Amino acid sequence: MKGLRVAGLTKSFGGVRAVDDASVTFQHGRINALIGPNGSGKTTFFNCVTGMVKPDAGIVTYHDRDITGRGAHKIAHEGIGRSFQLCRVFPRLTAVENLLAAVRPGSIVRALAPARLKSDVDRALELLTRVGIEHLADVEARDLSYGQQKLLELAGVLMADPETILLDEPAGGVNPALIERIGVLVRELNAEGRTFLIVEHNMDVVMSLSDHVVVFDRGRPIAEGPPDVVRADPLVLAAYLGG
Ligand SMILES: Nc1ncnc2c1ncn2[C@@H]1O[C@H](COP(=O)(O)OP(=O)(O)OP(=O)(O)O)[C@@H](O)[C@H]1O
Ligand SMILES: [Mg+2]
Repeated sequence: MKGLRVAGLTKSFGGVRAVDDASVTFQHGRINALIGPNGSGKTTFFNCVTGMVKPDAGIVTYHDRDITGRGAHKIAHEGIGRSFQLCRVFPRLTAVENLLAAVRPGSIVRALAPARLKSDVDRALELLTRVGIEHLADVEARDLSYGQQKLLELAGVLMADPETILLDEPAGGVNPALIERIGVLVRELNAEGRTFLIVEHNMDVVMSLSDHVVVFDRGRPIAEGPPDVVRADPLVLAAYLGG
């Protein structure tokens, strides 16, 4: 099966089972959404899949390859990229420098060396154009609006040319115009063959963007299906009402 699959995934923090024996499949080629109440384990799920947190139990496979417990660097190499719930950019680097640093995480000094390949700079500028902030290329990230920083982070994810992209609340704290732009971008990138898995609380975004929705409650899926079906599911309503 092409796509991302987890089976029996479990991760506890002290007494809290953040992800609790979760089994779920996200098919390749789709725009998948992962929704659920606060604290239902969505970000922890992302962290386990992308190698930032080691699961206590369970298996993660990508295109039928076992990637369980591999480091973040290796998983990025498999073609899985991600953004963070609290946007991660280097505040004192310019937009273009942020993208150069994104290709070589861990070596900002080398990333910004003058000997840097022109091709990386060209690609960075191309991606800034793609996300619509090329006019801000030389502006420090701390001087960008939060929505612009999120677009910059997305461009940083694209620097590695990932075929699967995990976005943790891309619309959170972003103004409606930029939410619209992020939506258009996701659709375009999906049409070009990239798979998405999007955690999002903004239901308008989830309903308008996704092909398939999985609902988490207390660390595992309780419902899944097309957006309109999931929206009408009484179990989902109960989870959001704290039932
Ligand atoms: N590093 C950590 N240490 C201790 N507890 C944690 C840690 N990370 C997550 N948790 C706990 O695990 C549970 C799931 O948290 P997680 O952040 O995965 O939920 P979420 O679905 O992403 O929530 P939100 O929608 O608010 O972002 C919560 O009870 C949270 O407090
Ligand atoms: Mg979260």
